[in-house]
Amino acid sequence: MNKQLTFLMCSPRGEKSASHSIGFYLTSLFEEKGISVNSFSVYQTLKIQEEIEEMIISINESDIILISSPLYIDQAPYMTIKTMNIITDSFQQGKISKKERHLFAISNAGYLEYYHNNIALKIYEQFAKENEIIWAGGLPIGAAGTHAQYPIPEFLKMLEPLPKEDPRHEIYTKPTKLLDSVIRTSVDHLCKGEIVPKEELQKLEFVPMPLEAYIEGGNNGWLEAAEKLGTTDKLRDKPYER
Ligand SMILES: Cc1cc2nc3c(=O)[nH]c(=O)nc-3n(C[C@H](O)[C@H](O)[C@H](O)COP(=O)(O)O)c2cc1C
Repeated sequence: MNKQLTFLMCSPRGEKSASHSIGFYLTSLFEEKGISVNSFSVYQTLKIQEEIEEMIISINESDIILISSPLYIDQAPYMTIKTMNIITDSFQQGKISKKERHLFAISNAGYLEYYHNNIALKIYEQFAKENEIIWAGGLPIGAAGTHAQYPIPEFLKMLEPLPKEDPRHEIYTKPTKLLDSVIRTSVDHLCKGEIVPKEELQKLEFVPMPLEAYIEGGNNGWLEAAEKLGTTDKLRDKPYER
């Protein structure tokens, strides 16, 4: 019988989010390998009791659970925790039966530093342990906003024509290729019912660009937004000061 996966997309930003973009990239790779996927956008799912029940039925039938969540205040966001609580209750009420089941998580941080995700990943690991789910590991993604704007395969295609000496290869192409390869290796292991080796996940433990480049990118985004809104002359306003 085909293996089944339940994907829990935990960002309120829907299709504009890194959680969606990276998570759905993984699910497409799983589907290519014959795994059937049920996806739930938890901010929508948790509003409707029938959909919560559908999510629980899907998890009961699944061999793999995939969580893709933003990082909020160095933590798993409230709705991600609420989802885990509902799943834990369902285990305790016998709505989800115990079987060999893996949990893999993607934690998406806005800042550059991958290690800001460490606490959230520990929380997902603890959730797995409490419910006798096998913790298969997690991706600690820094500067995740890049992948919200451009899905991984499209982004790599966009970068390809840049001249070899262009600095964007160092800060975008190199880390994105590495992320892509860790994702593909992770999917391969999970499809075989294996956990992802720590050494593989540790390949993501690097800071992808110099801090100055990150700040410059942020400032440019800020200016572009102000130009669009016609408010460039108001950027230094202090409405809270009289
Ligand atoms: C309320 C809130 C808190 C956040 N806290 C952090 C944080 O502690 N560390 C961080 O690196 N990014 C933080 N961010 C940025 C998000 O993690 C980042 O934008 C991420 O890409 C969001 O994932 P998403 O695109 O899947 O929604 C925060 C964003 C919001 C809205």
